[in-house]
Formats: sequence, C-alpha cells, structure tokens
Amino acid sequence: MSKRVLVTGGAGYLGSVLVPQLLDEGYEVTVFDRLLFGREPLAAVIDHPRLKLIEGDITKLASHNGFLEGMDAVIHLAAFSNDPSCDLKPELTQRVNFEATTELARRAARAGVRRFIYASSCSVYGSNPSPVVDEQSELHPVSLYAKKKAEAEAALFALPAPGMSITAFRMATLYGISPRMRFDLAINLMVMNAVTRRAIYVLGGGHQWRPFVHVADAAQAYITALEAPTKDIDRETFNVGSDNTNYQIGDLAWVVRDALPNLDVTVTTVPDNDDKRSYRVDFSKIQEKLGFTARCDLQDSIVEIARAIQNGRLGDCSDTKFYTVKRMADRSRRGRGSARLPALGLDDHGPQDQALRADVGRVRRRQARDRRQQLHRRPAHRARRCRHQAR
Ligand SMILES: NC(=O)c1ccc[n+]([C@@H]2O[C@H](COP(=O)([O-])OP(=O)(O)OC[C@H]3O[C@@H](n4cnc5c(N)ncnc54)[C@H](O)[C@@H]3O)[C@@H](O)[C@H]2O)c1
Repeated sequence: MSKRVLVTGGAGYLGSVLVPQLLDEGYEVTVFDRLLFGREPLAAVIDHPRLKLIEGDITKLASHNGFLEGMDAVIHLAAFSNDPSCDLKPELTQRVNFEATTELARRAARAGVRRFIYASSCSVYGSNPSPVVDEQSELHPVSLYAKKKAEAEAALFALPAPGMSITAFRMATLYGISPRMRFDLAINLMVMNAVTRRAIYVLGGGHQWRPFVHVADAAQAYITALEAPTKDIDRETFNVGSDNTNYQIGDLAWVVRDALPNLDVTVTTVPDNDDKRSYRVDFSKIQEKLGFTARCDLQDSIVEIARAIQNGRLGDCSDTKFYTVKRMADRSRRGRGSARLPALGLDDHGPQDQALRADVGRVRRRQARDRRQQLHRRPAHRARRCRHQAR
C-alpha cells in the first residue's frame, strides 16, 4: 500500500476534500500547489502532523529539489481546471496542463515513485456519436481543456517509466461541498442560482448528456486506486462516476428544482448557444475492476449545498474565488495588463458571449413578468420522468 503521497493541486476543489480523507486513512501527504485559491481550503488540516504544504508551480519543477524523493505515489490534480480558464491563456495551458504533467511523471519515475494517478476528465469524449461511451471509445475532445487532457493521457501512457504504474482517471463533472467551493460546476451552479435567483438556466439546449459524481466519491476513487493491486491500475484508464448520474442537462435542472420544492424555482432553457458536447458514460470498469461505487446521494447533496448557501456558511456566492476563470483573470489583471473574461459564469462548459448575456437578460425579464402573473408551471409528465431518473 502506498503511504507517502504527493498531491499536486491539493488545495483545490477536489484536493481539499481528498487531502483530509487521505490523512484520515493514515497517509503522509505532501501538497504541491500554486495556491491560486489561497491556503484557506486546507485550513482544517494545515497543522496536521502528517501534512506538508509546498507552495510551488508545476511549470517550475526544477526549482523544487527533492520533493519527490521517498514518495510512494503522486496524485496529479494541478491544472487549469475548466474550459474558460484554459481559453484565457492557451500557451500557458499547454505548459501547465500538458508539459508540466509529463515532466512531473518523468521526474516521479526517476525518483522511484511507484504510482502516478492523473486527473483526466470525461470531457475527452466530447462531441461523441456513440449513445454510451466507455474507456475504449474514440475520443472527440472539443475544448482546449479537453484536448490537453486527452493529449496528456496519451503522452503519459507513452512514457517509459519502469517501476511506476500510470493511471488516468476520467472524472465525471464534480458536485458537492468542498472547502474550495466552486460555483462554476453545473450542479453547484444550478443550486446556487435556485437559491439566490429562484431560477435555473439551462444552456446548450438541455438535451446534451453529462455524467456527474460527488467530490467526496471522486476523492474515495483515488484512495481506492492507491490501494489496488498494481496490475489492476497500471497503464489503465477509468471513468470515475456512476451510471445512475448520467443526466441530460435539461432533466438535471428539474432534478435540482424538485430537490428544493420550497423555493418555487423556475427552469428556463436559454436559446442560441453552440454547446455541442454530449456524452453518456459507462462506469462499469471501475466498479468491476477496482470495486469502486459512488455512494453520495444527489438529492441529499443538492439540499446540503442549498442549506450551506442559505445559512451563509459559504459567504457571498458572487465572490470571484468561487469561479475559476474569474479568479485567474483577477490575478492576471493584477499581475500584468488585462485578461478578457467570458461574459457569464453560468455554466462550466457553455459558451459565454454577449449574445448569450442578452438572451439571459431577456429570459430573466420574462421570468419576472411570468412570476408576477403566476404563469410559470412545470409540466407534470416531466417531473415524473425526472424523479424516476434520479432514482
Ligand atoms: N471539478 C471537476 O468537475 C473536474 C472534472 C474532471 C476533471 N477534473 C480535474 O481534476 C483536477 C482538480 O480539479 P478541481 O476542480 O479541484 O480544480 P481547482 O481549480 O479547484 O484546483 C486546481 C488546483 O491546482 C492548482 N494549480 C493550478 N495551476 C497550478 C500550477 N501551475 N502549479 C501548481 N498548482 C497549480 C490551483 O492552485 C488549485 O489549487 C483538475 O486537473 C481538473 O481538470 C475536475
């Protein structure tokens, strides 16, 4: 069993859930992170005797000597973690999400690390013609973010790394509470809009399929891989999620709405955007080979997020710290010149341009009018279908 683990990006949304879980399981954990979102996400464990924090940039590995020595495993999460933040600076994305990933793996193998687990994404399936995709399916990544994930997977598997197993985890889109909360992920965002605006906006037409997994379940999947026999994970790719939580985005909005019946939330499909990605994912491999099952309940998690917003536990939901691209643009503006921000933070993956902003403005005005006239009613057949799907 690997007991000394380096977690890059360990102060991020997933990392700050994973690190306490690793400590609870008895691991010695070193976090290597540029702290784009500060060190607060690790506040609860920062003084833990088995935790070490290295503030560093994975594009400058040469300036950090020896941090890989003695590590049994590397969990590589550090990255620009969504489409808009990658689009902000494509050259830097190439360095952070691709070059630094392969360089880290090369150095890890040289330092005698036995396991390297890479945080990839189901977004590599992209705009996929297959009704259901599995690890053998062709990849059709659309965004720069997804293309770099796919390229990094391929480069890692091509790496000569004797003695080090390499595993790629294609994670579904995460949701749930984390010490580094994100409201630029679809479910978290829908809940936030439901609570703060009494409205959920569906982008991309709503028919596109996406898989989801709770952040705590995803963290558990990494621990499962640390403890699995090497032969089961070496040069293997796993989809991380659950067959039960593949949703069409339009239906997902109704699931969120139904989980919060007291809020009287309206669901609106915003027209005119060009999100072409759709993938319904098969998660049987990770269950059959590693025995991993996602356990968190979506409805309970929606209520938990809503309560945390309502009782003020998360603070001001419009704070840029909750939105990866806004935080990066803020830092970039402070650093040098100005960085162009997408107009809306409505969805992790959606196109976010002026036309869409205008559409949303129109929709919001119409909703306000409808609400006044109490005209907005949910079709009964749709609610039944969503409840069934949610089970
Ligand atoms: N959140 C999701 O839904 C999701 C889904 C699939 C895959 N992933 C992948 O999982 C990983 C973690 O995602 P997350 O949601 O926790 O993202 P996040 O943005 O919350 O965390 C990323 C962390 O990486 C750090 N980081 C960024 N650039 C760095 C650099 N150059 N050097 C060192 N540290 C750096 C940041 O400071 C941050 O703490 C990412 O690779 C992401 O692409 C996430």
